Amino acid sequence: MSKALALVVVLFFVAFCGECYGELRFEFYKGKCGITDVEVVVRDVVKIWHTTNRERDIAAALLLSDSIKVFGKKNLSPIDMVYLLGGHTVGKTHCSLIQDRIYNFSNTGVRDPTMSNWLFSELIKKCPRVPSFDNEIPLDMRTPSFVDNSFFQEIQKGNGILKIDQQLALDGLTKKIVGDIVKDPNFYAKFGEAMVKLGRVEVLTDGQGEVRTSCRVVNKKPFFFGLFN
Ligand SMILES: *[C@@H]1O[C@H](CO)[C@@H](O)[C@H](O)[C@H]1NC(C)=O
Repeated sequence: MSKALALVVVLFFVAFCGECYGELRFEFYKGKCGITDVEVVVRDVVKIWHTTNRERDIAAALLLSDSIKVFGKKNLSPIDMVYLLGGHTVGKTHCSLIQDRIYNFSNTGVRDPTMSNWLFSELIKKCPRVPSFDNEIPLDMRTPSFVDNSFFQEIQKGNGILKIDQQLALDGLTKKIVGDIVKDPNFYAKFGEAMVKLGRVEVLTDGQGEVRTSCRVVNKKPFFFGLFN
């Protein structure tokens, strides 16, 4: 797997594990992946993408299409991927990570044009331009504590909190899948199937892995392990 795809996987699971501390923020990954400057890797991929595909919404498009490839390599279909991102129905983020979408999208000085008027009016209340506190924002503002398909209904209305969530409903690669999920009465069964499929990917058994105490990071070794290793 290329470094860029690996990064996309990391970004994806950062986003999927409830709270999102990642996303595409300049210098966020600086020094966090050893000697590899991941931002240079991503910049190069974006450059190639831009010159070959002439996509305007590059970052989000890159994230989606590469995510589809990454999931495909794990035998998860784009449909599985969209269902799994539906896990954001109970996810959360912080104002600091969406501040640019609200006030200065891509340095345009205004909000992300894909954001609905309703969402904008809600977010400016919860995330003031000059914040005194980095408030938590549910990724499904209508039913933040329920696993349901309202997440998909909301992104169809321009109420996606994260750029990638909003992009799911707009991008030609995933738009129809989102529409089908909204209409599907068997949402819970399908979501469950996708979770089970994900649970079978590269399972580590019998001492090969670890159960993380925080899903975002490998467990810290107790200090004395460091001394003897
Ligand atoms: C948007 O961001 C750019 C770059 O950081 C900055 O120069 C500009 O003043 C910002 N605009 C607004 C309206 O905040």
